[in-house]
Amino acid sequence: KQRLAIMLSGRGSNMVALVDAIQMGALRELAEVAVVFSNNPDAPGLATAAALGCQTANLAPAGRKRADYDAAVVQLLREYELDYLVLAGYMRILSPVLVRAYAGRILNIHPADTHLHQGLHAYEWAFENKLPETKITVHLVNEGLDTGPVLAQRPVDLRGANTLSEVERRGLLVEHELYADTLVRLFRGQISPSTPASYPAAPPDNRQLTT
Ligand code: GAR
Repeated sequence: KQRLAIMLSGRGSNMVALVDAIQMGALRELAEVAVVFSNNPDAPGLATAAALGCQTANLAPAGRKRADYDAAVVQLLREYELDYLVLAGYMRILSPVLVRAYAGRILNIHPADTHLHQGLHAYEWAFENKLPETKITVHLVNEGLDTGPVLAQRPVDLRGANTLSEVERRGLLVEHELYADTLVRLFRGQISPSTPASYPAAPPDNRQLTT
């Protein structure tokens, strides 16, 4: 079984969907949750994970520089002997020290097509631009912001979604299914990552993810 760290910063609805799939769904034979980790000791998702019987850990950045903090995270995670880091609403940009420690073994879910939108506020972006459809993306994490090889995408029909919360509601339903499905296919060796050529050449200017 693949040993996972699920990494979150807030609510943790994607974590719950993954833990469900691991405890009693399609991931049962394929993966186990070694730890649910947060940069935010007060993240509601941590308490939820503990209630679901998961081991939890947290480390607050406490003013450390990004690379120093990530080095401490690498150190903390070492004891769990992880195969994959699964980012699930983990709202920090990863520095190279963390990306390289788990090269090719970090996944993220982004609530938009990463070729069209990177960074925060993806549902707001879709809503404000009145998109008839958006795409949820699961991708490998590299040293850019939401620029890693795409593992899977699934559309969300936004026609008739008149409020931001309706956009989010529809999107999250797709997120929760897509993340577990993608891990199943990855762990069965059924996916090979693709890196489309269509990312913006310059770094996106919406790099506001931080704490
Ligand atoms: C999800 O919509 C996830 O895709 C998004 O944050 C939300 C976390 O919700 N992630 C990003 O925007 C990363 N750039 P959750 O805590 O309920 O899973």
